[in-house]
Amino acid sequence: MSRFALERLDASHDRKGFRSGLESIDRYLKETARGHTEKGIALTRVLIDADATAPKTILGFFTLTPCQVETEGWPAVPKGLPRNPVGAILLGRLGVDQRRHGQGIGSRLLALARAISFDSIQAVGGIGMLVDPAHAELIPFYEKHGFIRISGKTLRLFLPTPSLV
Ligand SMILES: CC(C)(COP(=O)(O)OP(=O)(O)OC[C@H]1O[C@@H](n2cnc3c(N)ncnc32)[C@H](O)[C@@H]1OP(=O)(O)O)[C@@H](O)C(=O)NCCC(=O)NCCS
Repeated sequence: MSRFALERLDASHDRKGFRSGLESIDRYLKETARGHTEKGIALTRVLIDADATAPKTILGFFTLTPCQVETEGWPAVPKGLPRNPVGAILLGRLGVDQRRHGQGIGSRLLALARAISFDSIQAVGGIGMLVDPAHAELIPFYEKHGFIRISGKTLRLFLPTPSLV
């Protein structure tokens, strides 16, 4: 991680210059992520070059938020979970600037998101990490990183807490 730094999104980051190639991801970063981060709704972290100065170019970002899920019928959850919702961490957004696709930045961001989720779960509990991929073609990307589909009816994938690190 010496060439890069992971920072909480703030005014020093160039949100307007970021293009992942997926409009919904870019719009979230430009229009919503800072407000959500400041209000504590969902926290966005950005990857930048370690020596970047403001306005800092965003190489990629991810957003995490706590969530509650009903796990009936899910694979890879502990036996005997209650029927009512239990805690987990949602990877709400993940994006890499399209000029830097295919260089391992998405995988690096995912590893950082997993480590942060693990620490958070160690502190307050939670069964793992969830992601709702923007489209089905992304499923192999998450499966390569250990995520499991919860059913054929939804794109949602799950990574149990013991597999986070
Ligand atoms: C998905 C994304 C975050 C991956 O970032 P990245 O830095 O290019 O990923 P990495 O270099 O770590 O890994 C590349 C791998 O992911 C796969 N991949 C990347 N983008 C993909 C896509 N849109 N669809 C399918 N597979 C994809 C590549 O095929 C490659 O697989 P390989 O290692 O087996 O060759 C990036 O492509 C992106 O920002 N896309 C647009 C926004 C988006 O779709 N975000 C996810 C929303 S859930």
